[in-house]
Amino acid sequence: MTPRVLSGIQPSGNLHIGNYLGALGNWVKMQHDYESIFCIVDLHAITVYQKPEELRAKVREIAALFLAAGIDPQHSRIVVQSTVAAHSELAWLLTCVTPMGWLERMTQFKAKAAAQESVGDGLFQYPVLMAADILLYQANIVPVGEDQMQHLELARDIAQRFNSLYGETFTMPATRLPLVGARVMGLDDPTAKMSKSATGSGHAVALLDPPATIKKTIMRATTDSNPGVDFETMGPGVQNLLNIFQAFSDWTNDQMKAHFTGMRYGDLKKQVTEMTISKLEPIQKRYAEIVADPGYLEGIIRAGADAVRPTADATVRLVKERMGIYTETA
Ligand code: TRP
Repeated sequence: MTPRVLSGIQPSGNLHIGNYLGALGNWVKMQHDYESIFCIVDLHAITVYQKPEELRAKVREIAALFLAAGIDPQHSRIVVQSTVAAHSELAWLLTCVTPMGWLERMTQFKAKAAAQESVGDGLFQYPVLMAADILLYQANIVPVGEDQMQHLELARDIAQRFNSLYGETFTMPATRLPLVGARVMGLDDPTAKMSKSATGSGHAVALLDPPATIKKTIMRATTDSNPGVDFETMGPGVQNLLNIFQAFSDWTNDQMKAHFTGMRYGDLKKQVTEMTISKLEPIQKRYAEIVADPGYLEGIIRAGADAVRPTADATVRLVKERMGIYTETA
């Protein structure tokens, strides 16, 4: 059987080159080797307050960016989480088998809760909803970054607990991920991963940034005090710029070394800028075409939901049966 891949992305903040090189670009490359479901998780986004109009626009923007980046809607499913009610329904059912202690250990919850004046219960339940996303489709592979590994582990723990309480029901998603992308760091602070929620203007290159902005951001990136590129002693900022170039170009390590050794940082940044602009240009062009036709985009989102709903509903029905929840027998 073709393994099923599922991943999710929150419709908040701006998708950036870290998302592209670390996740989306990879999904595009490997989508035809798998049965793929890519979720836009709006129900996760509202675990912290979102302006309604912005959230509504963001979901469409991300769906359009998925398509613009090369997700093939004939093959892969783009699913807006809230349009398949089974996500919410399974999340509740799983909540009831999830010990609070497991959730209290989640480092992302602790970090996000600390930054919040009032913490919604949804933020606490967040990882259960994520487990529901995954288990609903019996996904085999869940490509996520390091920061989501604890949530993925939790999904496995929940599946295991459910299976042992009610009988074999859920497929265990793998924890070892064959699909690792580049880890792009912040351009202003190369010790932290590039983040969608960081607001500093020099932090990230957004996929929809115009060339002048891309140039400005990259030219201002943090480097180190070496006079030029030295692969032995370079700091994290230079390493990050080289990583970005390599991930876009697919050059080998040898090619990278031969080309960049000794290069001054001004020239390095210029080349990273040109490479980035040349790779984002076609995505931006397709994006503009896609959003010019809202009916097309809505059709893709509807088709994605329609395609996966039978599987999702079947899982919820099975889970309910196992738990003794009322289901019609006919
Ligand atoms: N929590 C993930 C993140 O913030 C997003 C997510 C939600 C997800 N549901 C998922 C990722 C299911 C993978 C699978 O990055």
